[in-house]
Amino acid sequence: MAEFIPVPPFDLVVFGATGDLSLRKLFPSLLHRFLDGQIPAQSRIIGVARSEIDTAAFRQMVHEAHLKFAPKDHIDEAKCTEFLKHVEYARVDATAPASEWGALKDALADGNGNVRIFYLSTAPSLFVTIAQRLAETSLATPTSRIVLEKPIGRDLASSRAINDGVGAVFDERRTFRIDHYLGKETVQNLLVLRFANMLIEPIWSRATIDHVQITVAEEIGVEGRGDYYDKSGALRDMVQNHILQLLCLVALEPPNTMNADAIRTEKLKVLSALRRIDAQNVGAKTVRGQYKAGLIKGKAVPAYVEDLGKPSKTETFVAIKAEIDNWRWAGVPFYLRTGKRMGARRSEIVVQFKDTPVPIFGAGAGEPNKLVMRLQPDEGVRLWLNMKEPGPGGLRVKTAPLDLSFAEEFGGVRYPDAYERLLMDVVRGNLSLFMRRDEVDAAWDWADDLLAAWEETGQAPKLYTAGENGPDQSTVMLGNDGRAWWDPE
Ligand code: BG6
Repeated sequence: MAEFIPVPPFDLVVFGATGDLSLRKLFPSLLHRFLDGQIPAQSRIIGVARSEIDTAAFRQMVHEAHLKFAPKDHIDEAKCTEFLKHVEYARVDATAPASEWGALKDALADGNGNVRIFYLSTAPSLFVTIAQRLAETSLATPTSRIVLEKPIGRDLASSRAINDGVGAVFDERRTFRIDHYLGKETVQNLLVLRFANMLIEPIWSRATIDHVQITVAEEIGVEGRGDYYDKSGALRDMVQNHILQLLCLVALEPPNTMNADAIRTEKLKVLSALRRIDAQNVGAKTVRGQYKAGLIKGKAVPAYVEDLGKPSKTETFVAIKAEIDNWRWAGVPFYLRTGKRMGARRSEIVVQFKDTPVPIFGAGAGEPNKLVMRLQPDEGVRLWLNMKEPGPGGLRVKTAPLDLSFAEEFGGVRYPDAYERLLMDVVRGNLSLFMRRDEVDAAWDWADDLLAAWEETGQAPKLYTAGENGPDQSTVMLGNDGRAWWDPE
C-alpha cells in the first residue's frame, strides 16, 4: 500500500453531484482514498443536485459508477458499501433563493469542526450564484474552502467576473482552482526531475534544447458534451488551462521553495513572457482543425458535425507554435498540439536537444537526444541517447531509450488518479497545485488575443480524418521550421 499523509476530518459538498465528472472521477477518487484508509471516520461527503432523488438513490448511482468505471481488479463491493455510509444527498436548486437551501443546511448541521469544502462541479455560470447563496445561508464559514472546476469563464472578462463574484465570499487563500493535469503523476515527476537532480539544470535552456513539443491527443470525441464543447473548442477547453500549465512547468525558473506562492509566481512569469499571437502571425503559428468521419482502431466514427447534429466552425484540434520571450527560452519554440478523435490517446512532453556541433561519426549518425515524458496512457520518462551498436567492424551509432519508467522501478504501485491527490490537497489546504487568480488571468489574456486573431482573419478549421494526427497543415508548420512531430508508431 502506498504511503500517504493523514488528513483532518472533512465535510465535502459536491455541487453537480449527479454530473459526469462527479460520478466518473470525483466519487471514484474519494472511494480510492477511502480504500487506502485516508478518509477519517468522521468525514462526510454530501452530493448536491437538483434531481428529485434521496440519499439511497444517490448512493446507488455512486455504487453503479464504481462498478462501471473502476478497473475490474479494484471492484470491492463490501468496501464500497462501507464508503457509501459517508455519502449523503441534499436536493438543492443552486439558483433557488437561500430560503430553499434547507436540505444542505440540515446535512451540514453538527459539523464538529470538520474542514468544510464546497466543490463546484457545475457550469461556471453558476459559480457566483452558489458562492452568494453560501454566504446568505451562512454555510460559507470563515475557514471553509471552495473548489472551482474549469473552465473559469470563456475569456478574460468572464473569468474576472467569476473570480470577483466568488472572491467576494472566499478569499484567495481559500479558493482552489483545479486543473487536474497538475495532479497527474508525470507532471509531478517533472518538477522532481528538474529540481531534485543537479544533472538537469545546466542543460535546461536554449543553450542545449532545440525545441519542446507538448501533445495531448485524445481518441474520444465530444461524448455527449457537444453543447458545452461547441461554445468552447480545443483552445479554450485544453490549451488555455492544461497545456499552458504543462508549458509553465517545463519552462519555469527554479522556485526557491515548494511553497504554493513560490511555484505560482514562477508560472506567472512564464505566462507573462509568452509572445502574443496576432492577426499578422496567426496563420503561420497556429492550425485549427475539425474532425470528419474516419476510423479509430478499425471502428467507424462520425464527423464532429454529425456528433453535434448541426454545422459548426468550432475547432476540435489546435496546433500552436508558442514562444517564450525570456533569457532561458528565447529562440526555443514550444509546439503545442491537442485534438479529439486522433489516432490514439497519448499525452506527452518531448524535450528535443540540439544536434552535436560536429558530426564526427558521419552525417546522419544517430539522432538528437530527446527526453520524452509520457503522461498517459502508460506513465514514464525515457531519455533517448546515441550508443555504439555492440559488435566488431566499424562504429555504428544507434539511438536507444534509457528507460526511467516508473513501472519497472516502482513495480506494483497503483498510480492514483489526479483527482485523488488534488482532493486530499484541498483538505490539507495545500494550494501548490491549484491556479492562482493572476495565472488564470494571464492565460486568458494570451488566449483572448489568439481567439481575436482567428476571428479577425476568419480562420476556418481545416478538416482532418478521425484517427489521424490532425490536419496536414500541422505537419507543415513544423516542417517549415525543419522539424517534425514526434509520433512513434
Ligand atoms: C477536460 C476537458 O478538462 O480534460 C476534456 O474538458 C478532456 O475535453 C479532458 O477530454 C482530458 O482529460 P484526461 O485526464 O482524460 O487527459
